Amino acid sequence: MDASVGKKIRALIVGATGFIGQFLADASLDMGRPTYVLVRPGQASPTKAKSLKALREKGAILINGTINDKELMEKILREHEIDVVVSAVGGGNILDQLILVEAIKAVGCIKRFLPSEFGHDVDRAEPVEPGLSMYKEKRRIRRAVEACEMPYTYICCNSVASWPYYDNTHPSEVLPPLDQFQIYGDGSIKAYFVAGTDIGKFTMKAIDDERTLNKTVHFRPQSNHYNMNELAALWEEKIGRTLPRVTITENELLALAAENRIPESNVAAITHDIFIKGCQNNFSIDGPRDVEVSSLYAEESFRTLDECFGEFVTRIDKRKEITY
Ligand SMILES: NC(=O)c1ccc[n+]([C@@H]2O[C@H](COP(=O)([O-])OP(=O)(O)OC[C@H]3O[C@@H](n4cnc5c(N)ncnc54)[C@H](OP(=O)(O)O)[C@@H]3O)[C@@H](O)[C@H]2O)c1
Repeated sequence: MDASVGKKIRALIVGATGFIGQFLADASLDMGRPTYVLVRPGQASPTKAKSLKALREKGAILINGTINDKELMEKILREHEIDVVVSAVGGGNILDQLILVEAIKAVGCIKRFLPSEFGHDVDRAEPVEPGLSMYKEKRRIRRAVEACEMPYTYICCNSVASWPYYDNTHPSEVLPPLDQFQIYGDGSIKAYFVAGTDIGKFTMKAIDDERTLNKTVHFRPQSNHYNMNELAALWEEKIGRTLPRVTITENELLALAAENRIPESNVAAITHDIFIKGCQNNFSIDGPRDVEVSSLYAEESFRTLDECFGEFVTRIDKRKEITY
């Protein structure tokens, strides 16, 4: 009998102390998978130390290392008999994955690699600079993966469920506006908003699904397809009052992008691509390499934006309790 039958998939998560990586590691642990977490050496900030402690308590196996060290990565992958590598390195470290790809190739037995994507389909979207440079780096990783015929899955989860501030990399860590809305253009271009926990859950479901092998997985939950005017109305309903709206024009977004301040200009460039150019909707996903996550897992529901905004409201209430 094949020794691998019945064996649980062992996942190595790179970047588990980061914004997206934490959702991935949590989802892997929630599924009861042996979950290995690569921890970059060096002094941990209090936030990083706290998230590592939480991961360890949930059962993650922490391994010190960096993906920039090919020999070490080969040793880790072999010794821990890793099946799947999921990378969520941040926008500034995308090219570090070139060495990781080399290590995976050398080991030769990794069943799936998910590079750090977790946004748009970088082969189809064409934001202005400096967003484009980051996309070019992600494209370079895709080409390196494909050149060595390594099994892969690209996760294109679109936007994280939150108010999409145009200068904040992790907007879901901030409450939606309480003073005024800034609406991009006429506010009519729709985007898909996905809760971080769902990004984690559906990514971890996809890692050993034959249907996602060598495919791009698009997250297009119809229930969470909103434009900014609808998003503002939903938030007003939650907080029970209306807020003034100001328009942020296309030229204002382009001006911030042109300042080339990282990461703010990256976020402005991508915001422009989403809410002015409509990059999440302007292509169909019926190609041979495309799959859509809600049709793959039709029995599973997505957290709605209504629920996510409801949770933000409880955070306002908590803030009030602290002030009293
Ligand atoms: N769809 C969206 O709205 C959205 C939002 C945010 C990000 N993203 C995408 O999601 C991906 C992850 O971004 P993020 O913002 O979550 O990243 P992040 O918060 O900056 O976290 C990056 C993580 O990668 C680790 N890391 C970086 N370089 C490494 C290396 N050489 N070796 C080992 N670990 C390394 C960091 O470790 P340390 O703790 O040691 O620094 C950290 O844990 C990116 O591709 C980004 O473009 C998408």
